[in-house]
Amino acid sequence: MKIFQQLHQDTTSKARLGLLTLGHGQVETPVFMPVGTNGTVKGMFHEDVKKIGYSLILGNTYHLYLRPGLEVLSQFGGLHSFSNWDGNLLTDSGGFQVFSLSGLRKIGEKGVTFQSHIDGSKHVFTPESVVDTQKIIGSDIAMCLDVCTPPEINHRAATEAMHITHSWAKRALTHRKELGESFKGNLFGIVQGNFYEDLRKQSAEFFNEMDFPGIAIGGLSVGETSEQFVHYLQYTADLVTREKPRYVMGIGSPDYILEAVENGIDMFDCVLATRMARNGAVFTDDGVVTLKKAMHKFDQRPIEERCNCRACTQYSRAYMHHMVKTGEMLGGMLATEHNLTYFYRLMQQVRQAIRENRFASFKRDYLARFYAK
Ligand code: GUN
Ligand code: ZN
Repeated sequence: MKIFQQLHQDTTSKARLGLLTLGHGQVETPVFMPVGTNGTVKGMFHEDVKKIGYSLILGNTYHLYLRPGLEVLSQFGGLHSFSNWDGNLLTDSGGFQVFSLSGLRKIGEKGVTFQSHIDGSKHVFTPESVVDTQKIIGSDIAMCLDVCTPPEINHRAATEAMHITHSWAKRALTHRKELGESFKGNLFGIVQGNFYEDLRKQSAEFFNEMDFPGIAIGGLSVGETSEQFVHYLQYTADLVTREKPRYVMGIGSPDYILEAVENGIDMFDCVLATRMARNGAVFTDDGVVTLKKAMHKFDQRPIEERCNCRACTQYSRAYMHHMVKTGEMLGGMLATEHNLTYFYRLMQQVRQAIRENRFASFKRDYLARFYAK
């Protein structure tokens, strides 16, 4: 079954409007997905995440496998019922987290051996085992185990990482097919190829030929310059089939999101909105506001006048400043709710602009105001 339907193509850019049909309901695209690493979007009640409008959030196989572990998750029938989330769930495979978080790790053709960042214990992920784990989690979208590489590696190392990613993707898909209807989740492939055009091209063509219901572009926003990001995003997006949902992993900031949308990307996720909130940094149309700053001490205005979140309808910037300065939990919670509300509203405006064939001017105007200060 096809899970993605393109509804409209913007006439001023490559941006497009679409609809994803998943196990826990439909999702309008382009969509921003909040990150709930441990089965919770930090500082948020699931019901409030839903109330804002989100119907697709992220979880991490790496974290959930380590804690609470597969035994707990199986006994509770998966993460949806364990965490009382009835929307859609996408899980990253652990490919990225093993490389960014865990200690000693060793990639072999079979899989990756790594040490837990929690207690140093040793574990093995294989392309097959992470599909099984995501089945136990109950993911609506599962990701293939991949090898995500930093920007400074040479062509030879990048080629090897890409070949391993491809061979693991084949095995993951074969295993996914063996599971059949016993697993309802959709397995996505991940394009790699580091910052080399020939490799990006090879990888995009490899995944275009394969039978995945969706394709992700990985290995971006890993420490490269923004010029590199823009170039490789455009370059790769132009090579990936438009028949399927296209997901750029691990972005982010409003400028990167708009860049991705402009290139016809349908999905993205990032910890930025929620992590920055916990540090007292909140998004507004006039840029990021740092609530810690003394300038907010007596400010009776809300973070944003037109925002309908709890922070903006019930509290002043002065109170938010006080919460953040005193390290109160409520400060992080309110700021998180605001940022997630802000990003949801941004995506609504993005979809409206595409619908009305004015995405290019929307992007230009939005960024001019956001970075005006
Ligand atoms: N998150 C951000 N980038 C990546 C990537 O390249 N691969 C995976 N699996 N997750 C990511
Ligand atoms: Zn708000």
